[in-house]
Amino acid sequence: MRRFEGTRVIVTGGARGIGKATVARFAAEGATVVLTDRDRETAEAAAKEISEETSSSVYPFIGDVSVKADDEASIQFALEKMGGIDVLVNNAGVYYEEPIEEISEEHWDETINVDLKGTFLMCQAVVPHFKEKRSGVIINMASTNGIAGEIYYTHYNAAKGGVVLITKTLAIELGPFNIRVNCVCPGYIDTETVQAMDLSEFVQDYIDNKIPLRRVGQPEEVASVIAFLASDDASFVHGESILIDGGQLAD
Ligand SMILES: NC(=O)c1ccc[n+]([C@@H]2O[C@H](COP(=O)([O-])OP(=O)(O)OC[C@H]3O[C@@H](n4cnc5c(N)ncnc54)[C@H](O)[C@@H]3O)[C@@H](O)[C@H]2O)c1
Repeated sequence: MRRFEGTRVIVTGGARGIGKATVARFAAEGATVVLTDRDRETAEAAAKEISEETSSSVYPFIGDVSVKADDEASIQFALEKMGGIDVLVNNAGVYYEEPIEEISEEHWDETINVDLKGTFLMCQAVVPHFKEKRSGVIINMASTNGIAGEIYYTHYNAAKGGVVLITKTLAIELGPFNIRVNCVCPGYIDTETVQAMDLSEFVQDYIDNKIPLRRVGQPEEVASVIAFLASDDASFVHGESILIDGGQLAD
């Protein structure tokens, strides 16, 4: 299927993990993509790899989503490279597992600034363009942690809960301009960053006791839902938070 021929997409945090799988999915279906990330080397390598594999144009942009000037510049870059933007995916995020006594002000600020403020700033930067053309799709990256609390993630839960409510608020505010806004809420997804946290014992317990499908998810299984939300198949889906968690929160 090449559902996204002629569609122009911007994905933040697209160099690795779920973001990279999302860029790859859109490009494989014919979209032109701007991949933004703060990690230059990985971003440039991912853009090159995906554009060679898919024959779609993938342009890297280096910037930090928590910095307003970088977000405005990334939107400007996307407008220049692609002639417009149809879909914004706010994926960039950081997460730390630590009890409340050990959360430094630095980690609190980083989590809120990247995951929550970064989402807000990118939405704010793209909205004038979407309003002008009276169309656009925003897909925010929340988490199961935005729907239910999880021990040792106070900062992350606060940020992702905020992303769910940014999504609902903007759905109400921007729907009349034909701008659709939704978010995805993945559970445990097997990315390099999660693997690096060395949670092996915890993961087995999770799989055995908390995830009814008895496995963790793959980045591609989040990317496919993001692609659905961006497509016309989701034309009346708006203000929604879609769990992608193997049934974890069904309990
Ligand atoms: N992996 C999971 O289990 C899981 C579950 C639910 C939600 N999520 C969310 O999905 C998103 C991606 O997670 P992942 O596991 O793929 O992470 P990851 O660490 O593999 O990739 C995140 C990417 O974002 C980039 N990034 C981080 N901070 C940035 C910033 N300030 N500006 C620009 N780029 C930045 C990183 O360089 C990296 O390339 C995050 O928002 C995360 O909270 C992940």
